[in-house]
Parts: sequence; structure tokens; C-alpha cells
Amino acid sequence: MRTALSALLFMTCLAGTSSSQVPRWTIGMSQCNLGEPWRVQMNADVKQAASTHPEIRMVFKDAQNDALRQGAHIDEFVRAGVHLIIVSPKEAAPLTRPVQEAYARGIPVIVLDRRVLGDQYTCFIGADNRKIGRAAGRWIAARLGGAGNVVELKGLMTSTPGQDRHRGFREGIEGTALKVVFETDMKWLEPNARKEMESALTRFGTIDAVYAHNDPGAHGAWVAAKAAGRDASILFVGIDALPHEGRMYVRQGILAASFEYPTGGAEAIMTALDILNGKTVPKEIVLPSRVFTQKNVNSGGELVH
Ligand code: FRU
Repeated sequence: MRTALSALLFMTCLAGTSSSQVPRWTIGMSQCNLGEPWRVQMNADVKQAASTHPEIRMVFKDAQNDALRQGAHIDEFVRAGVHLIIVSPKEAAPLTRPVQEAYARGIPVIVLDRRVLGDQYTCFIGADNRKIGRAAGRWIAARLGGAGNVVELKGLMTSTPGQDRHRGFREGIEGTALKVVFETDMKWLEPNARKEMESALTRFGTIDAVYAHNDPGAHGAWVAAKAAGRDASILFVGIDALPHEGRMYVRQGILAASFEYPTGGAEAIMTALDILNGKTVPKEIVLPSRVFTQKNVNSGGELVH
């Protein structure tokens, strides 16, 4: 009875729309969490890009920062028979198996922003985190005249952006007299960054700069330094540069610089459509980044080289 009813509703629905408006393809989007503004922006970018394409229907899942749950979401998409999966994984290792299995079953998978291990996926889209880290290192070294004490607040080190932002930064400060006096994994989260910075401040009388792997981390460090009355003598540098977050902090004089990390949401939809339409897409799409400082934040920032 219920089946008949839903079939009827479906037919009525079809009858009321022209065939061009009926979605041809379902895309499953697996987001690792929606507790961070950058990820809310990524989903909004995906939604916005998809909204101009009536031929696709989006189904969103939020893993609430749980890698096992995210793996289960990908498995569910496979069982439901979606036509394509977009995934922004929490961590590389635990998401590798579900992505590999979906790909092996012939479902195209676009990996967005954080990587999985190996190459069993259709396309990876993201900015070059090592390059961003290197540019941040060079920028801080230049601002400090090549010497000083630095605190590094790292993103989740089981995720590839954390690893690459760390490695790039160390390359950027190589050969200078900059010393990383304190480094810790704040797992991308502002409250962790604030607490870690409180310890750094008690342990080190001189801190010249904080390099945080994202803007929430840099902001958390600033809050701790401000409470200790030491914010004015420290440069705070972060990554993401969302207009209403990092760029706003730069405008407010809280951050000295923020490096843009584009969400890739629009590019993911463009690439998904190419794949669904049978076009060949590159294995890697590298997105550009810009740096925003107090000098250039109102004129659009500068490209990172
Ligand atoms: C959000 C976030 C961003 C960061 C990105 C790295 O979860 O932590 O702040 O740039 O993930 O994957």
C-alpha cells in the first residue's frame, strides 16, 4: 500500500516537472565534520555549485569528526548505488579502505582537501599545503629579520594537510635563526590551541611568532596571549583566510597574515559533472592560494608562489 502510494507520488511528481528538471545523477558528499566554519563553507560552496545543475541531486552526510562513522557513510553511499562520491576525509589511513572499495566497484570518487593513502580514487582536488607551509615559514622569517622563537600549533598530524603544512614550514625556515621552541598537535581546534598556548606562554618568556596550521588555531593562541598581556609582542599567522574568519582577523589586527586554503567545493562539482558526462579528468587538481596581510587584505591579497 505504502509502496504503491509512494510510486504514485513519484509519478505525480514526474508529471509535474519537465524531464530536464529530473535529476539524472545522485552524488553523495561525505564531510568529516561540520563543527568548523571552513567545512560549513565547503558544503555551502558544493551546494551553491550544484544548485545550478538540475541534473544532479546531492545527498550530504556529516561524520561529526569520527573517521569510523565517515567510513560507514561511504559504505552506505555504495550500497545505495549513488553515481559518484565526493569525500573530504578526516584522516588518511582509516578512510583509505572505504574509498578504495567504492572505486573498485566502479563508483567515481573525488577526494577533496585531505588525502587518503595510495591512488585508488578518481581525482584529488586541493591546494598545495607544503607550498603554503613553506610560504608561511618564509613570510615569518622575513618579518622577524631571520631570528626569533616560534610556536607551531599543528593540525591533526594523521591528516595530510597537517603533515604537509608542518614539512613545508620547516623547509621555509631552514637556514634561518628561527627556533621552534614549542610544537604540539592541536587537532585543528581552537580550544586546544588556546590551552596549548597557555602552556607555551608559561614555559617561554620570549615568543616572537605563532604559526598555526589553521585560523581557528591562530585565534585560540591570540586569545591566550591577550589574556596574558603578551599579544602585542607576538606575530600570529594562520591558514584558511575565510572572508568572515581569517581575513576578518587580519583586518582587526589580530593576525599578521592568513594564507588562503580554498574549499574546492565549486571545482568538485565541475569535476563531478565532467566525470558523469564521460570526460577524462586529471588525477590531481591543485588549487591556488593567496596570502592576506594587513597591507593587502583590502585589495584581494597576493598569490602564493
Ligand atoms: C577544517 C580544517 C581547516 C583546514 C582544513 C585542513 O576542518 O581544519 O581549518 O584548513 O581542515 O584539512
